[in-house]
Amino acid sequence: MLGNFSYYNPTKLYFGDESLKFLKEELRNYGPVVMLIYGSGSVKRNGIYGQVVDIIKEAGKTIVEDAGVMTNPTLEKLNEGVKIARENKVDLILALGGGSVCDYAKAVAASVYYDGNYWEKFWLRQDQPDADQKLLPVGCVLTMAGTGSEMNAGTVITDAEHNFKVGHVFDSRLMPKFSILNPMFTMTVPDNQMKAGIYDIMNHIMEQYFSDFDDNTSDYLAEGLMRSVIHSSRVAVKNPKDYEARSNIMWAATWALNTLLKCGKSQDWMVHIIGHSVGAWTHAPHGYALASVSIAYYRRAMEKGLHKFVRFAKNVWDISSDDLTDVQLAQKGLQALKDWMLEIGLPLTISELGATADMIPGITETTVVYPSGYLNLTKEDIASILKESL
Ligand code: NZQ
Ligand code: ZN
Repeated sequence: MLGNFSYYNPTKLYFGDESLKFLKEELRNYGPVVMLIYGSGSVKRNGIYGQVVDIIKEAGKTIVEDAGVMTNPTLEKLNEGVKIARENKVDLILALGGGSVCDYAKAVAASVYYDGNYWEKFWLRQDQPDADQKLLPVGCVLTMAGTGSEMNAGTVITDAEHNFKVGHVFDSRLMPKFSILNPMFTMTVPDNQMKAGIYDIMNHIMEQYFSDFDDNTSDYLAEGLMRSVIHSSRVAVKNPKDYEARSNIMWAATWALNTLLKCGKSQDWMVHIIGHSVGAWTHAPHGYALASVSIAYYRRAMEKGLHKFVRFAKNVWDISSDDLTDVQLAQKGLQALKDWMLEIGLPLTISELGATADMIPGITETTVVYPSGYLNLTKEDIASILKESL
């Protein structure tokens, strides 16, 4: 294991098809005003909103609503949410939705009691809230599997005016106090979003796996999770109503990005950084943006991190090493990844998301580059990865 680290994750999880019943009990721990945040209306159409509102009312709480959180939430919307929370003296923020709604809820929770410019402090300067700053508690009722936002302190916000999408990982004070994970709630997620979520999970694991040269327990955990995601995705794509597959996907998503796998790892995250820029320019679902640049990126990473790509081929894709060189094995592993992505219907190019060659300079410009994983890329490298991904 590399270096020294601490591990602490305070989020309490309730999992299963009856897990919503624990919401009432959780609400007892908080004051009277609940800010209920949700997206563009799917929770009303599938009835989850009604179930949640009934429970909040039964618990005797006042509801303040903040609807219309868009996928890839914007700074403009964040300003609106902060204003609502300030005006209503909110005690608890309850996110009802996918990663966008959960991220946004945490962003509001961090910003309400900060007097200065929260965008500059938390997202541009990447500072943490001061030790004495009040932060609102957040709970999540998750409706889509993918981001892991239900058990981490990540918040990705987009400055739409400048096509600039940036994430900030807060410290553990901003992790949800509780999250309710009912796999049945994910059954109405549209097909493209389910697939985008599946690749998001896979890529979170890969971002942490493809780094370093040591023998690390986290990598063995990562391999097990990847095998589970690959298996369940194949079942879910054929039969989206398969509870076993959908519940495994939901649980894997949480463990893929709840701060466990990164222990003792330097990590990568460049696919996410490039993907965020592609997403800001194309408005593609987050997981699709990641998929569209992955193959070109990992082809480059493979040259420097060959040993890990050999291990990926053998332990994740069961490719036998008979008579193959390390380079051949690693290439077969990458091909297996590509074949699986095609099989489950993921986009492999940025053109499929509407990006054109003339957008490449702009996408490159808004991509923040730093040494990561096995690579130390330049802006020119980013531009050529994007060209290869066209
Ligand atoms: O707008 P609503 O009505 O909520 O509809 C959503 C949205 O259109 C819909 N949906 C969600 N659950 C549904 C459903 N439709 C029907 N039935 C349901 N049960 O699906 C669409 C996508 O939802 P969204 O929340 O945007 O997706 P996702 O969970 O992929 O979240 C994406 C956001 O999370 C950020 C991304 O950058 C993006 O902004 N990320 C957050 C991370 C974190 N906190 O650690 C890490 C990730 O890498 C990611 O960057
Ligand atoms: Zn992601």
